[in-house]
Amino acid sequence: MSVLDVLVWPAKVLETKADPVTTFDAGLKQFVANMFETMHDSGGIGLAANQVGDLRRVIVIEIPWSDSKYSEQEEKQEPWHDKRWVLINPEIIKKSGKIRWQEGCLSFPEIFDFVDRAAEVWIKAFDENGKEYEVHANELFSVCIQHEIDHLDGVVFFQRMSRLKADIIKKKMLRRGPLNNA
Ligand code: NI
Repeated sequence: MSVLDVLVWPAKVLETKADPVTTFDAGLKQFVANMFETMHDSGGIGLAANQVGDLRRVIVIEIPWSDSKYSEQEEKQEPWHDKRWVLINPEIIKKSGKIRWQEGCLSFPEIFDFVDRAAEVWIKAFDENGKEYEVHANELFSVCIQHEIDHLDGVVFFQRMSRLKADIIKKKMLRRGPLNNA
């Protein structure tokens, strides 16, 4: 396994729509393993392939509960905590309600802000073995899935905020300069 470079905005690939996975092979499994290692190394809870410069519709998510709560908004342990989720070619088949959560993103270091999303989503996706499954998500899992699917569509989180907030975030990011974006 290896840790991949996480690209930060304004990397073009973050605003490019990813393509569906058509081949489920050993190379894909290796890529998924590398994405988990990269996410753990960066201390994230979700990662989309765009963020490591790969335009396949692949997402990994793992939201820890056991040690410490990731967010003060999380109230109780849910069945989706502490599990490794692989979402390949994910599709939201139903959504309901509204939730407002303070989100962060590995491609926007040290930036956190509130985003409005659907409170619950029902999705279908494939795992790395090519097996299709459905899952219902609420709270942080729901927020995370919607954030990561946005990445696959080339949408970054400030596009879900007001123009004013988006401009502030863009300015902050551009002031940082091209730090780790070779
Ligand atoms: Ni993100």
